Amino acid sequence: MSVKITYHGHATFSIESDGAKILIDPFFTDNPVAKIAADQVDADFILVSHGHGDHVGDTVAIAKRTGALVICNYEIVNWLSSQGLEKLHPLHIGGGNQFPFGRCKMTIAHHGSGLPDGSYGGNPAGFLLKLNNGKTIYFSGDTALTYDMKWLADDNVDVAILCIGDNFTMGPEDALKAVKLIQPKKVIPCHFGTWPYIDVDAEDFQARCNAETDAECVLLHAEETYSLD
Ligand code: NI
Ligand code: MN
Repeated sequence: MSVKITYHGHATFSIESDGAKILIDPFFTDNPVAKIAADQVDADFILVSHGHGDHVGDTVAIAKRTGALVICNYEIVNWLSSQGLEKLHPLHIGGGNQFPFGRCKMTIAHHGSGLPDGSYGGNPAGFLLKLNNGKTIYFSGDTALTYDMKWLADDNVDVAILCIGDNFTMGPEDALKAVKLIQPKKVIPCHFGTWPYIDVDAEDFQARCNAETDAECVLLHAEETYSLD
């Protein structure tokens, strides 16, 4: 069974696996690179990596409309509950759980996590998804390069979705080091080009990733889909 990964721009992705629709960091409203609106996206599950507005984004509206289960850290679960959401599953860093689509584990990210209204959002995270069909996807979230990423080499990651935009997260240079630590088969870069602060040369990153690492870089633009067989 194939897995379909659709990029919505910035750090927003939809992953479709065995009929389950997983939406990650749904940021559409006020996202300068989004090509669709929040009310056009479907989801059974929503994963939120941290509390920043460009990641929590439209979570409340989309979860209310679709009835999706939101999976995120305990502090953000409490905040989303205060916003009227009821279908919530708290995880925390290092912990995972079996969901209908497969196992989702929260991974370390070095970043911030304050919520849009100033509420405490706990610690930021990434996600390691071991999908029921055998594919493994790592979503770094917003993070610095960390040597802990080396542990992910044990997980045989098929696709690593990595931030490369620099300024707030890993830049291309550090993201290449991350690829060498994680040893994924494919790399999909994100969190670049949305605003001038994070305007990096993604084509150059792609070329360097293909030349200097064992992974193939798949460079997606907003609303492009990569199918993993
Ligand atoms: Ni952030
Ligand atoms: Mn961000």
